[in-house]
This record gives sequence, C-alpha cells and structure tokens, in this order.
Amino acid sequence: MTGSRGLQASGVTVRYGGVTAVDNVDLSVEPGQVVGLIGPNGAGKTSFVDALTGFAPAQGEITLDGVSLTRMRPHRRRQAGLSRTWQSGELFASLTVAENVLASARPPTWSTLARDLFAPRRSIDAGVEPLLHAVGIPGLASVSAGALSLGQQKLVGVARAMAGGCSILLLDEPAAGLDSTESLQFADRIRRIVSDGPGALLIDHDVDLMLRVCDVVYVLEFGRLIFRGTPTEVRSDPRVVAAYLGSPVEG
Ligand SMILES: Nc1ncnc2c1ncn2[C@@H]1O[C@H](COP(=O)(O)OP(=O)(O)OP(=O)(O)O)[C@@H](O)[C@H]1O
Ligand SMILES: [Mg+2]
Repeated sequence: MTGSRGLQASGVTVRYGGVTAVDNVDLSVEPGQVVGLIGPNGAGKTSFVDALTGFAPAQGEITLDGVSLTRMRPHRRRQAGLSRTWQSGELFASLTVAENVLASARPPTWSTLARDLFAPRRSIDAGVEPLLHAVGIPGLASVSAGALSLGQQKLVGVARAMAGGCSILLLDEPAAGLDSTESLQFADRIRRIVSDGPGALLIDHDVDLMLRVCDVVYVLEFGRLIFRGTPTEVRSDPRVVAAYLGSPVEG
C-alpha cells in the first residue's frame, strides 16, 4: 500500500487474440479531478475501462487510494471504490429508475431490509432522489426506465454508478444522446459532483464538452496514448489534430 489517493494505472495492456486494444497505458485520476479520455472509434477507450474494472483480462498495475486492485475480481474493485457506467446503458427497462439505481448499490442491512418491507416505494424513492438531482433528472424515481429518452437513461447509469459512494467514477460516454444544451448542463453537473470528492474519468466524443469540463485530457490512438495535457494544449497538438480533432476547435 502507498500513500497516494485516487487512481493510478500503469502499463495497462489488453489483448483480444491478435488485436492489442490497449497498449501499455499509464493514466491517473486524482480526487476532485475530471480526466478526459478521447480518441477515434476503436481506439481502446472502453477496453481500458474494462481493464480497470476487471471485466477484460489485462496486464499492468492498477491502484486505488494506495490499494492494489490488479488481482481483484470486478465486484471487489467496486467495493474498493471504483465505479463505472456502461457505454450501452444496460438498464432494466421494466424496472423503475429508483430500482435501477439501487440494483448495484451495496448489499442490504437489517435496517434497510426492515425499512423496505414496511415503507417500500416511498423510502426507496427518497433515497435515490439526491442522486437523481445530482445528475440532473430529479423527480423521475418512480418512472419506468424504458419510458426515458436515451440521454436520460445514460444519466440514470451515472446515478447508479454513484449509489453507495465511490472514490473514482469511470463514465463511458454518459452524455451520448444529450442535445448540446443538455450536454453543457451535464458538464456543470459533473464539475459539481467531483467538487464533492470523487474523481472522474470521462469518455465522450463531444469535444466541446470534453474541453469544457476536463482538467486533463488523454488521447488514445490504436490503443496507444499519443497525448496527455490540458484542454488548451490538446487543441493545438498536431498529432491530436491529425488523429482525432481533424481541424482546430473554435475556442
Ligand atoms: N470483446 C472483444 N473481443 C475482441 N475484440 C474486441 C473486444 N472489445 C473490443 N475489441 C476491439 O478492441 C479495439 C478497441 O475497442 P474499444 O471498444 O475499446 O474502442 P473504443 O475506443 O471504446 O471505441 P468507441 O469510441 O467506438 O466506443 C477495437 O479494435 C475492437 O474491435
Ligand atoms: Mg467505447
């Protein structure tokens, strides 16, 4: 165990047969920081999150708040404080928003079991409401998840990742499906969420959102990190412009 807080990944490599999806990547996220991970389709962003969370076999070292996660199963990594969303959403359409949010929360205790038996719906919804408020979809606790827009479903995924608390949030395209106004509001909410403590690794293809919200940006191309720097630096880096941005982004 070391004294450093937050997430440190070093030398992370993921291979699927002959494909090296993630190639020797070093990345860190501190508490209170939003770290961006961008790159073209197929660059290895989701595979990197899969490696961090234990869903893909990987080489390299991963520590969280000084504790090595490298040999832990996915559920142990979650218990240690590493939480993720899924790019494809993965909600249960027939359950309510509140039930979806709580589906991955910590196991029940005797007191939460008793409360749920005697005052089921109201207490469940009340517990979830602050999380829904934090991600910008208050008042939807009792709505069926299948009735939500794609953008709202993604936000439920973020609330679900936050349920039960965590040290680091890994957000795999949580803003896909939001329009440009919603996306700007989402950026402000993510900043507010990290100001309360957890760090976030944010993946998204909306470059304006990323450059607005991130403290540090990493760029992946063909599994390799080709850049790490501030949003201001990323706009003018010739390798990033060639690999991903295409043309300089208007400031
Ligand atoms: N389970 C898998 N088995 C085999 N190959 C895979 C698997 N998952 C991903 N890949 C391959 O690994 C590479 C990286 O894919 P990945 O999904 O991590 O990229 P990404 O950066 O998240 O892309 P996107 O922006 O489209 O979400 C691609 O070549 C992809 O085809
Ligand atoms: Mg992906």
